[in-house]
Amino acid sequence: MDPTIELFDRAIKAASASYSPYSNFRVGAALLCEDGSVVTGTNVENRSFGLTICAERSAVVSAVSQGKRSFAALAISCPDADYAVGPCGACRQVISEFVGADFPVYFAGKDGIFVKRSMGQLLPDDSLHELGEVR
Ligand code: THU
Repeated sequence: MDPTIELFDRAIKAASASYSPYSNFRVGAALLCEDGSVVTGTNVENRSFGLTICAERSAVVSAVSQGKRSFAALAISCPDADYAVGPCGACRQVISEFVGADFPVYFAGKDGIFVKRSMGQLLPDDSLHELGEVR
């Protein structure tokens, strides 16, 4: 699968399920698993704002809940953004639990022009898996 096309297509579709009545900012995430499957997630807001769950964490939690822990790439679509928006700090930490420093993360705004970053770029100087392989 070409992550720049098919994976973004899945991320855009996932964003259409966004529950974001407070921000009106839809986000979709599509996680390509090592087995070739794709698990998606979207942001789910709450009237208690701090309980909002981002699209990226929705996707990771969903994948792990399905028994998938090995991932090849992540695409994030923000169809309401004028520019490419990368994952928030909390999501960077959660994604990094399951991937290595070379893991590619692609993100794009409404124009579809994407930015590619590695996990190591998004979360530099982190222990990542130096603590040992726990997966
Ligand atoms: N959001 C995400 O889903 N992922 C991000 O990386 C950035 C922010 C969501 C949270 C909230 O529902 C909305 O976008 C506005 O911040």
